[in-house]
Amino acid sequence: MKILAIESSCDDTSVALVEIVDGRNTVIEMKTASQIDVHSRYGGVVPEIAGRLHAESITPLIEDIMQGRDKPDYLAVTSTPGLLTGLLVGVEAVKTLSWLWDIPVIPINHIEGHIYSTFLEIDPVEIIFPAICLIVSGGHTEIALMHGHGRYELIGKTRDDAAGECFDKVAKLLGINYPGGPVISRLAKEGKRDAIAFPRPMCETGNDNFDFSFSGLKTAALYWLKENAKSDGQVFQLKEEILHNFCASFEEAIVDTLAQKLVRAIRKYNPKLLILGGGVSANPNLQNRLRDEANKLDINILIPKNKYTTDNAAMIALAAYYKILSTGPTDWRQVEAHPRKSIYV
Ligand code: KG4
Ligand code: ZN
Repeated sequence: MKILAIESSCDDTSVALVEIVDGRNTVIEMKTASQIDVHSRYGGVVPEIAGRLHAESITPLIEDIMQGRDKPDYLAVTSTPGLLTGLLVGVEAVKTLSWLWDIPVIPINHIEGHIYSTFLEIDPVEIIFPAICLIVSGGHTEIALMHGHGRYELIGKTRDDAAGECFDKVAKLLGINYPGGPVISRLAKEGKRDAIAFPRPMCETGNDNFDFSFSGLKTAALYWLKENAKSDGQVFQLKEEILHNFCASFEEAIVDTLAQKLVRAIRKYNPKLLILGGGVSANPNLQNRLRDEANKLDINILIPKNKYTTDNAAMIALAAYYKILSTGPTDWRQVEAHPRKSIYV
C-alpha cells in the first residue's frame, strides 16, 4: 500500500510517499519546505505569511514527489490542530487530488502524527500497548495513554505554555531568533546544569496530577536575567560562560520537570512502552534522560529519528495507514480543516 501525505499545519510544508508492505513501512521519498527563515524575522509564525508560503510550495512539492510514479493507493493530510491558514492549503490540495484521481482520503490529527513518527522505519513488533506518550512541541505538552492504535486517553497536559514555547520565549529574551529551542540546547551542552536553581513547576511532593505549567519557569528565567544580565532594553546579554550555564540550567529544569511527571505516570499506569514525540523530542538532554528513566523502570522506549522529530508528512502517512486498518478512509467532501480538535474521546 502506498500513501501520499501532506503536512502543513505550522511552518513546514511537507509531502511524503510512504509504502507499507506486510506492516513494515518505508519512506520512499519526503520533501519539506521550511518557512523558518521567513518567520524568524518576525519572532514567531505569522499566519498570513504561513498560508501564502504553504500555497506556493505545495504543488511543486507534490509534483516533485509524484514525478514518474504511479498514483498512490491513499491520500492523507493533517486536518487539525494547527494554523487554519496552513491546514486549509493541505486539506484543499488533498481534496482536489482525491476528486481528480478517485483515491480515498484519510484526515489525520497532527498530535497523532507525532506519536506515529516514532513508528517510522522500525520493526512493527516493537509497537506494543498500552503505551505512554509524552508529546512535547511548540504548541503541545501532553502525557497520553495509548491503549491501541487510535485509542488515546489524556492523563496530563500543560495548563499554560507548551515546553517548546517556553524554550522559544526564553530564547527570545536572549535575542535568539525563533525557534530558539535548538539554539538553547546547543548552548546548554557546554554549561553546568546545576549552576542556577530554576523551579520545577508542579513537581512538589503531594502534587499527584500529571499536568504541567511552564509559564512560571519562563517568569523565573526573566527575573533571573533582570537581576544578573545586562540589557539594552530589548534583549539580555550574558558573558559566554554564564550564558552556557543559564541555558544548561534552564534546559535541565524543563527536562527534569517532564521526566519527573512522566516517571510518576509510568509508575501509576504501568505501560509496556514509552513514546516520545514532537519537536522538543529532538532535545538530546531530554532523550538521554528518558532513556535512562526507561532503563531504570525496565520499559521500552521509542524516540523518532532526528529527521522525523519536527513536523513532517511521513508521520502523517503512517498514522493514516493504521487508521485505514481501523476506521477506513473518509469521503473527501467530509474532510475539513479545523484549528483545534483533540485525539481524546
Ligand atoms: O513539533 P514542532 O516541529 O512544531 C509544532 O507542532 O509545534 O515543534 C517545534 C518546537 C519549537 O518550539 C522548537 O523550539 C522546539 O520544538 N525544538 C526544540 C529542539 N528542537 C526543536 N526544543 C528544545 N531542544 C531542541 N533540540
Ligand atoms: Zn508538530
